[in-house]
Amino acid sequence: MREIKQEDYLEFIKNHSEVVIGNSAVKLEGNFVIISNCSPSENYIPERTSVWSFPDRGKWATHRGNYRGNWSPYIPRNLILKYTEKNDWVLDQMMGSGTTLVEAKLLQRNAIGIDINLEAVMVSRDRLNFSCDSSVHNDYREPIIKTYWGDARNLDKIDNNSIDLIATHPPYANIISYSRKKKIESDLSSMPLKKYISGMKEVARESYRVLKPGKICSILIGDARKHKHYIPISNMIMEIFLNSGFILKEDIIKIQWNMKATRENWRAKQYDFFLIAHEHIFVFRKPENEKDLKKHRFSTKLWKDD
Ligand SMILES: C[S@@+](CC[C@H](N)C(=O)[O-])C[C@H]1O[C@@H](n2cnc3c(N)ncnc32)[C@H](O)[C@@H]1O
Repeated sequence: MREIKQEDYLEFIKNHSEVVIGNSAVKLEGNFVIISNCSPSENYIPERTSVWSFPDRGKWATHRGNYRGNWSPYIPRNLILKYTEKNDWVLDQMMGSGTTLVEAKLLQRNAIGIDINLEAVMVSRDRLNFSCDSSVHNDYREPIIKTYWGDARNLDKIDNNSIDLIATHPPYANIISYSRKKKIESDLSSMPLKKYISGMKEVARESYRVLKPGKICSILIGDARKHKHYIPISNMIMEIFLNSGFILKEDIIKIQWNMKATRENWRAKQYDFFLIAHEHIFVFRKPENEKDLKKHRFSTKLWKDD
């Protein structure tokens, strides 16, 4: 892990007005902004059920929605509000364009973000280059936000038992490649399924190590289809996290929107399968101790050993 600070970002934007992630150009704004729209609309109510749907993905603050495969800011907002207090530490070790960190900053939580792609880290810093307008939000205090260029499989700069919430969104194996043009060896989205699965085992092991006992690790993950058959990536991820010692607290279904290309293909041809239009947000909890783990054995891997 190498820390990327504000001065590194300021140096980078001297020569770069955009970066290319996968096949898409992402513009870097390059200006520090004071924002007054620090939250969704006033009548927004946080989610209360296990089915989430955000057809309007959310464009408040510096969220742009133009990083391929980024998650709606409503997702980290809901997770942060449910599972943390102000000044807690939030981690997104595959932060992409930094959606989780922007939400942590708006909600006054300290945060650490990491990405394997230096250019993604620069996009995140670009989105974090703001402050909340103190004349509108007069009790606002800037939290500590740190960004790193590094590998989610090895969080060597993060202490054991130091994080209050993990909210992260890994690649769904190699469905979308985040480093198509510039090959990045450790990019999980460039790995064949078997290698991806062993990489995700290391991600789960590191997540368990850095999380405080009793705290939450939440993962958004989707499935795929190959040769007209279903590949249950989410089931594999669930098993990996349970095998690492986590307890399953929630399985939230997230309805998928913005699948323009797929929907057009769908209309164009008649296939003998259903279009996948959901993802899973798994909410795992690190047990406090052995007693806690055993008490919840039907939500762990222990039930298989009974
Ligand atoms: C689905 S995107 C995350 C999008 C993010 N939630 C957002 O809203 O912008 C997955 C990210 O994981 C990163 N990634 C892939 N392999 C990684 C690894 N081994 N360590 C850290 N980041 C990795 C990719 O570069 C990509 O930015």
